[in-house]
Amino acid sequence: MEESTLVIIKPDGLKKSLTGNVLTRLSETKLRIIGAKVVQVDDQLAETHYAHLKDKPFFSELIRYIKGELHSDSRVMALVYWGEDAIRKVRTIAGATNPEEADPVSIRGAYGRILTSGLFENVVHASSSPDEAEREIKLWFEPEEIVYDLYPVKSVQVQETTKQGWA
Ligand code: TYD
Repeated sequence: MEESTLVIIKPDGLKKSLTGNVLTRLSETKLRIIGAKVVQVDDQLAETHYAHLKDKPFFSELIRYIKGELHSDSRVMALVYWGEDAIRKVRTIAGATNPEEADPVSIRGAYGRILTSGLFENVVHASSSPDEAEREIKLWFEPEEIVYDLYPVKSVQVQETTKQGWA
C-alpha cells in the first residue's frame, strides 16, 4: 500500500553534519520526498508532537532535545516520504528507538547514543503508523508545502494578515 511518513532529522543530526548521510541512507528505500523544510521547533510543536509521552520521566529532556537546547542548534529538518510500505521501510533504516539495541548499520545504530541523563539521542524521528503519520504530517506541514494532495483540504478565510516579503 502506498502511504506517507514523516521523517525528522533531529538537532544532533544537523549538528553532526549527518543530514547527507541520513538522506543517502533513506534514498535506499526508493521512496519519493514530497515535502522538505528546515524548522525551528517551539514548545507547542514539540509538546504536541510528543504528546503521547507526556507522562514519561524523560519528557522534559526530550522536549529540550527536539528544540535543540542540548546542541545549541535549534534546527531540525522535516521531510515527508511517500511510496509503497513507506512507514516500515523508513523505520527499518532508522533502527530501534534505543541506539544500543538498534541494528549497527541502521541510522540510529550507527550515529545514535544514550546520554548520561538516559535520553536516547537517536538522530531521526520516523512515523510509527499510518494514523501517526497523518497526525504528524498535518502538524508539521501546511497542505501547500507538500507536492501531492495527501489528505482532504478545506478553504480557510484569512483576514488582514501581513507576511514578510523580500525587502
Ligand atoms: P517513541 O515515540 O517511543 O519512539 P520512536 O521515536 O522510535 O517512535 O519515543 C520518542 C523519542 O523519545 C525517542 O525517539 C527517543 C526518546 N525516548 C527516550 O529517550 N527513552 C525511552 O525510553 C523512549 C521510549 C523514548
